[in-house]
Amino acid sequence: MRVAGLIRVVVFIFTIVTMLVFLHNYTSFSRKTIRLPRWLGITPKEIQTPKFKCGLSKMCPNNFFAFKISSGAANVVGPSMCFEDAIIMSPVRNNVGRGLNIALVNGSTGHVMKKDSFDMYSGDPQLLLNFLTEIPDSTLVLVASYDDPGTKMNDQIRTIFSNLGSSYAKKLGFRDSWVFVGAKDLKSSSPYEQFLKNNPETNKYEGWPELLELEGCLPRKVM
Ligand SMILES: *[C@@H]1O[C@H](CO)[C@@H](O)[C@H](O)[C@H]1NC(C)=O
Ligand SMILES: *[C@@H]1O[C@H](CO)[C@@H](O)[C@H](O)[C@H]1NC(C)=O
Repeated sequence: MRVAGLIRVVVFIFTIVTMLVFLHNYTSFSRKTIRLPRWLGITPKEIQTPKFKCGLSKMCPNNFFAFKISSGAANVVGPSMCFEDAIIMSPVRNNVGRGLNIALVNGSTGHVMKKDSFDMYSGDPQLLLNFLTEIPDSTLVLVASYDDPGTKMNDQIRTIFSNLGSSYAKKLGFRDSWVFVGAKDLKSSSPYEQFLKNNPETNKYEGWPELLELEGCLPRKVM
């Protein structure tokens, strides 16, 4: 019967396809686990999980900078910033502090121009204001909070961060977690920002929300 024949063909094709899938799975499996003996004349390449800049899971395209930022954890562990595979700020480098940690990077060369931390609990916010008003054009601005970025925050500082592309600077308050990458002449809001409000109901630690991480590829400014 024709129908029976058709079914046989379908079953046959199905079997072949399934076999191919299994075979493919098996060979990719065996490639990872079995070392072929040398006398076979095939020296298998060392299989290792590729490591990309700043530990990203993918490679940034040409003309992009890799970055990864972590905010501080409560008031215990300081924040860290990686840019193009260099740890530019971290507790180990001993160049982070409570408040806001900020690095300025030349958007066309990727050269780190300035980095500093600003105590936003008991420090003078004028220091941060001076730092921010002197940012040159085409500069990337990387920010990580630690412990308390909000107490001394004022409207002038909020406005500058908003102009750098921040959506949350307006809300930033006592012990919030915040990570952000903006740029001096950004015309829109930055896609690189995360924010967690200090809220006793949802805080991960007793007095602080969870730490935040931000990573990705930043487009190089082509002049
Ligand atoms: C092939 O491998 C993938 C990934 O390991 C697995 O999800 C899938 O079920 C496998 N397929 C077969 C037919 O074994
Ligand atoms: C960034 O680098 C470019 C190319 O070297 C240079 O022309 C420009 O002045 C630099 N910008 C700043 C703010 O240093």
